[in-house]
Amino acid sequence: MDWGMENRLGQLMPNGKCFFMPIDHGYFQGPTRRLEKPGETIKPLLPYVDAIFCTRGVLRSAIAPAGSKPIVLRVSGCTSMVGKDLANEELTTSIEEIIRLNAAAVGISIFIGSEYERETLKNLATLVNACEGYGIPVMAVTAVGRELDKREYRYLALSCRIAAELGAKVVKTYWCDEHFDKVVEGCPVPVIMAGGPKCETDLEVLEFVSDGIQKGAVGINLGRNVWQSAHPAAMAKALRAVVHDNASPKQAHEIFKEAKENK
Ligand code: 5RP
Repeated sequence: MDWGMENRLGQLMPNGKCFFMPIDHGYFQGPTRRLEKPGETIKPLLPYVDAIFCTRGVLRSAIAPAGSKPIVLRVSGCTSMVGKDLANEELTTSIEEIIRLNAAAVGISIFIGSEYERETLKNLATLVNACEGYGIPVMAVTAVGRELDKREYRYLALSCRIAAELGAKVVKTYWCDEHFDKVVEGCPVPVIMAGGPKCETDLEVLEFVSDGIQKGAVGINLGRNVWQSAHPAAMAKALRAVVHDNASPKQAHEIFKEAKENK
């Protein structure tokens, strides 16, 4: 691997583990609850995360360039919650813009099994071709749109493997309660867990993240379960302990409780 690629991956995954903070939701769902002002949402969480996942619009308007965390730039889009099909995405951002914004990596969704499977996989291949020459890693996001039931291990394993085969350097996918280890084992590049809709309890979040890490995921890209929590910074601190320090759900829950009392 060339120096630039390795350096970017090293920034994003210190010691091979990572906690990315996604604030990209507005690119198809508008001003999501608690993400109305992304710059304010993210401020108290920054000490705990390794990178921010966002679009160029939010980056330029809400994140100060000096001293910023590494950026994973979301570069697919052009659909909305109220449109016909969330899967009908395009590449939104040129390679010149990716370089100009000093992205540490880029993120793009693929929709396996959808009507737009081929187009979104072509988007991924095109993006990898553009980014490889500049040493910029591509993170593929195995998206399911509104079809949340698709999140079972056979589908996730298929999607992750295809993303890696097309050249993604990292794959972001959903955790699943059965055979998540098979998803990770079948993917030749690091797997990161997405969050999905907010869990019912704080402990539930810590439990599923811990389970995924034990089964081989290298980290998380968790948004709503952090910034929609009643105690976002405490949740971020506890999750960091699970990802980077291998804390058990019980230990992490203690960290959470202590942090929320001492805020
Ligand atoms: C949206 C995304 C988000 O980054 C991803 O879903 C993670 O956020 P959350 O934990 O809120 O699901 O890729 O398409």
